[in-house]
Amino acid sequence: MSEVPCLPSADQYEPFERIYQWRGNDPACADATRLGENALREGRVAAVLLAGGMASRLDCEFPKGMYPIGFNGETLFEIFADKIHALQKKYGRFVPLYIMTSDVTDEQTRIFFQEKNYFGLPPQDVVFFKQGNQIAVDIDTGKTLYSAPNVPAASPDGHGGVLSALKKYRLLTDMVKRGIELVCTFQVDNPLIPLADPEFIGYCLFDQAEIATMVLRKNSPEEKVGNMVKKGGVVQVIEYCDLPLDIAELTNPDGSLVIGYGNVAIHVFRLDFLIRVLKNESFTLPFHTIKKKVPYRDENGALIHPTQPNAYKKEKYIFDVFLQAKKIALVEGARRLCFSALKNSLNSNTENEETVRADMKASGLFE
Ligand code: UD1
Repeated sequence: MSEVPCLPSADQYEPFERIYQWRGNDPACADATRLGENALREGRVAAVLLAGGMASRLDCEFPKGMYPIGFNGETLFEIFADKIHALQKKYGRFVPLYIMTSDVTDEQTRIFFQEKNYFGLPPQDVVFFKQGNQIAVDIDTGKTLYSAPNVPAASPDGHGGVLSALKKYRLLTDMVKRGIELVCTFQVDNPLIPLADPEFIGYCLFDQAEIATMVLRKNSPEEKVGNMVKKGGVVQVIEYCDLPLDIAELTNPDGSLVIGYGNVAIHVFRLDFLIRVLKNESFTLPFHTIKKKVPYRDENGALIHPTQPNAYKKEKYIFDVFLQAKKIALVEGARRLCFSALKNSLNSNTENEETVRADMKASGLFE
C-alpha cells in the first residue's frame, strides 16, 4: 500500500467531462491529427523512455529494453527505434529520444546502444540520463539492507524520478534549445506503444491541455493498471494496489465499472508545463512505499537474491504530477493497437513474453 492517502469511497469520484476516442469518428480526430502531424514535421516533439526499472518480476539479468521480444529477435529498444525511424520517414524529422536509466540499467543500456550503432538513430538524438536512488529496508525488521559492507542497498526511486533527473541534467533546457513543445513519455515494457502518435499528441494541442494521457477500458475490476479517476475536479491515478477491491468492483446501472478506465502510462506533456512545475523549488512528488525484491548481503556477507519481496522502498510515480495540471485531455485508445506490457517471467500466466507476442501478432503491426 502506498503512503499517499487512498480514497475510500466511490461517491467521491466525478464523471469525466470528455474522453476523446482515438481513431474514432469525431471530427476532433482529424483536427488533432493535423496538429500532431504539424508538430512532428516541425520537430516540436521529443520522447522520454522510462527504462530505469529493475524488471524484478521478469527475472532477467539485463535491462528489460534488451529483451528480444520481436518475432525476429528484435529487442524492445530496437522496436522503439524502428518506430522513430518510421516517424522520420513520414515527417522528415527524428524525434529525439531521451532514455532514463538507473544505476541498475545504465551501463548495459549505453553499451547495448553503442554496440547496435544506436539502431541507426543519430547519436546526438539519443540522450541517456540516470534517475536517482532510494534505500531499501527489510520488510520484517525495518533495518536498512546493505549491498556491500557499509553500502546501503539502493534501488531506483520510481519513474517519477524522471522529473528531478530531467531537472538535474538540464534536459528541459536541452529540449527548449531543440525547439521542443511536446514531451511524450512511455514505458520500456510496451512494444505496441503508439510512440508520438500524431493524433494522440495532437489532442494535447487541440484541447489546449497541459497533458494528454491515453486510457483504456479496464478488462476487469482487478486488472493491474492504475485507475483513472476525477476528484475535486482533478484527474488523477490511483494505483491498483491502493484501490480496495470492493470499490474497484462497483458498477453503474448499465453494468459498466464505476472506475472503468485504466492508466497505460502513455502520456504527453507540454514542455512549458514541465518547466513551470519544476521551476518551483519546493515542488516534489510524493513518495509511495512499496514492497520489492531487493538483493542484499546477509550477516555472513553472502549476496542474496530474494525470490519474494523482502524490502520496503520508496518510489515516486510520474502520474502524480497530473495534480499540477490546469487541464488534462483523456484519450481512449484501442487496446489491440496500443498496449501489451511485458511484466512477468513465464512463471506467471499474464503479461509474459507469450502473451505479449500473441498481442503483437493480433495487432497486425509487426511482420
Ligand atoms: C505501471 C503503472 C500502472 C500502469 C501500468 C501499465 C506505476 C506505479 N504504475 O505499473 O499505473 O497501469 O504500468 O503497464 O507506474 N521504471 C523506471 N524507474 C523506476 C521504476 C520503474 O524507469 O524506478 C519504469 C520501468 O522501467 C517501466 C515502467 O517504469 O518502464 C513501469 O514500472 P513498473 O514498476 O513495472 O510499473 P507497474 O507496476 O507495471
